[in-house]
Amino acid sequence: MALSKFISPSIMVPKIYEYAEYIKQFDRYDLSVIHFDVMDGHFVPNIMLGTSIFDDLKEMTNIPLDIHLMVHQPENYISMFNIKKDDWVSFHPETTDHPYRLLQTIKELGCRAGLVISPGTPISYLEESIDQLDYVTLMTVNPGFAGQTLVPNTFNKIRRIRNLLDSYDSKIDLVVDGNTTPENSINMAKNGANGFVVGSASKILKSPSTFGEFYEKYMDNLK
Ligand code: DX5
Ligand code: ZN
Repeated sequence: MALSKFISPSIMVPKIYEYAEYIKQFDRYDLSVIHFDVMDGHFVPNIMLGTSIFDDLKEMTNIPLDIHLMVHQPENYISMFNIKKDDWVSFHPETTDHPYRLLQTIKELGCRAGLVISPGTPISYLEESIDQLDYVTLMTVNPGFAGQTLVPNTFNKIRRIRNLLDSYDSKIDLVVDGNTTPENSINMAKNGANGFVVGSASKILKSPSTFGEFYEKYMDNLK
């Protein structure tokens, strides 16, 4: 059975003053998840989204947040955020000594657990933790910034991960993060991605007033 396709809007992209309008749209279309980037200025050369924005979003919507931890020692960050059951939490396996243990901790909180694979990270990490994974995020750009172009070999890496996941349990979502334009997403889906973090590259976050129009078109393209 094919996994259902979904988008996950990257909330680091809109301006803070646009959040309320966007959240209205996300709720209206009953989105399954919102992408929440956390960057520590060490693992990636940027600093992004902290605990108070997280709390504000939690007050604004019941849609689960996907906390994408781009930090060293992600195990130290879990207790800083008021993570709720059904949120998604993902991290980069090379940032911790014990990726398997951290996946277990995330699942004990009632959250969906994911690993994030950067362009230079071997996909063999996935194999060792496969029984704990609810989703995998593949970075299709180098992590840290919105507005970049795809790294070469992206489509091939999507295919290699999809094949690996299928050989174990095809219910694991494969999410792509970075430059998911409407055109790129078609090829990403063909190669096995079913979740799409949409940031600045997607017309979906151009403005809250055109969200619905572009969201519907984007999903239609992926059928
Ligand atoms: C990049 C972040 C992404 C970013 C992608 O490190 O993880 O979530 O928002 O957005 P684009 O590539 O569409 O600008
Ligand atoms: Zn991200």
